[in-house]
Amino acid sequence: MEKKRMAGEEAAKRIQPGMKVGLGTGSTAYYTIVEVGRRVKEGLDIVAIPTSRETERLARELGIPLTDFRTCPRLDLTIDGADAVTPDLQLIKGGGGALLREKLVASISDELIIVVDDSKLYDHLSGLAIPVEVVPFAWETTARRIEALGGRWTLRERDGEVFVTDNHNYILDTVFDEVVDPADLARRLKLTTGVVESGLFVDMANEVAIGTDDGVIWRK
Ligand code: 5RP
Repeated sequence: MEKKRMAGEEAAKRIQPGMKVGLGTGSTAYYTIVEVGRRVKEGLDIVAIPTSRETERLARELGIPLTDFRTCPRLDLTIDGADAVTPDLQLIKGGGGALLREKLVASISDELIIVVDDSKLYDHLSGLAIPVEVVPFAWETTARRIEALGGRWTLRERDGEVFVTDNHNYILDTVFDEVVDPADLARRLKLTTGVVESGLFVDMANEVAIGTDDGVIWRK
């Protein structure tokens, strides 16, 4: 947790007065949001868009001013966590099930900073769990289509119930043994009827703040 805290807090320093900021989801982004809340109490003047209902709740509790996509079509910076980061900054996200909102918010951000501890660093994405958000209707058919692409899958559950995202969809946790070209896999998943979005974030991250035993290391 200490490494996550260091990364989350360090990245929050990149937020400047007047910025429009995307707030990520998860236990590392949590530390960024708490730090932003602390700075807002000290007078930092920003507006933010949260990437999940959980983050929205936290931001409101901390008094961080929120905005919406109508008033704010672009963001200066989004800070978010990730489940896996490769040396060329390709990401897997969605461990917390917020991947669709996270991708939407990242897609309108001039800059995406990722905050992780060093357990999230991988050489490649082969064999790692890639969350895929699917519509509940005919999800089994969608799962079969994912199998045809070469992926194994499990339907995500929480407390014995099917996990339902903030957007009322399901998550298939997929594994592809060989992910040679993440962009190609992301494209093929996206083209699969029934898939809403995948947790592959290709060429989206600008920088990564990595919490390590020796402090925070930046990678870009
Ligand atoms: C949520 C995410 C999270 O950012 C990702 O799962 C990392 O979470 P954590 O910082 O708790 O390890 O993508 O959908």
